[in-house]
Amino acid sequence: APGPVPVGPVPVPGRTRLRRLRTSPAMRRLVAQTRVDPADLVLPVFVREGLTEPRPLSSMPGVLQHTRDSLRRAAAQAAQAGVGGIMLFGVPEHRDATGSQADAPDGVLNVAIADVVAEVGDALVVQADLCLDEFTDHGHCGVLTPHGAVDNDATLERYASMALAQADAGAHLIGLSGMMDGQVAATRDALDAAGRTDVALLAYAAKYASAFYGPFREAVESQLHGDRRTYQMDPANRREAAREVAADVAEGADVVMVKPAMSYLDVLADVAATSSVPVFAYQVSGEYAMIEAAAAQGWIDRRGAVTESVLSIRRAGADVVLTYWATELAAWLVEER
Ligand code: PBG
Repeated sequence: APGPVPVGPVPVPGRTRLRRLRTSPAMRRLVAQTRVDPADLVLPVFVREGLTEPRPLSSMPGVLQHTRDSLRRAAAQAAQAGVGGIMLFGVPEHRDATGSQADAPDGVLNVAIADVVAEVGDALVVQADLCLDEFTDHGHCGVLTPHGAVDNDATLERYASMALAQADAGAHLIGLSGMMDGQVAATRDALDAAGRTDVALLAYAAKYASAFYGPFREAVESQLHGDRRTYQMDPANRREAAREVAADVAEGADVVMVKPAMSYLDVLADVAATSSVPVFAYQVSGEYAMIEAAAAQGWIDRRGAVTESVLSIRRAGADVVLTYWATELAAWLVEER
């Protein structure tokens, strides 16, 4: 029987010089194993109904609640910078128990989708958040039972209706972020029955109940008291992500996502190693806020930290990164090419 195959040269001290491949920027660029391209980035944006001027967010310096007009401009800028896509979140003026503005054709999010598609056409993949939390007066991602629990299957009917409204508005890719069981199948079936087999589904497959969503709650004026631990994943669980991904792909997800990104790079690497569909990762509001806060204090180099953070998410296996720095980072990447 053949013996073991030698795996490579035995390192001899003084002969192996790993520093040889680090000698110059050109050499480092040549051997870099991971690249970030503007096309790999998606810009998440917030549009607030009833604003006359864009409104800055105190916990996310540099990020705005947009008016319809300023949103169009931000989308045009992102497209100009070569960013791959945009993810829209809507903040309504009025909320109710079932989130009725979520699927109203003149609801803020649906109107914004149509605005952005009219502005950029196919230059960006126009994505919409499909979830009820911005639209409900209790702030949960679904409708509630009389006892106040989140009602999974009643919520699926709301999601199916939202998917149709977003498809009608022109969304190319619908982001299912509510973490209800069966949400991919329910929205896929509704779209297919309406003849919208062309609209793709992005499943937030492994979305954890995370403290790093804190600043996002300001951005969408969240009404939530309590937490989402009965539907979002427990941060303690790594293996469970594989079940979530398998279920979503079986139900027809075109893309899966891991979220947050930086505290979940192990999960991301697991999913990337086995996924049959593209894998996105979401560098969430708290990740953004931490770097901005430290940079504002002069404690870290802003550009270096931003660039490295997104690179590390790509290195862990994300094909695409959602990041609030997408447009700015895209310009840096082009500059450094
Ligand atoms: C739910 C949703 C949330 C985020 C994206 N979609 C909030 C939540 O689950 O509580 C968070 C994104 C971020 O923190 O940047 N619609």
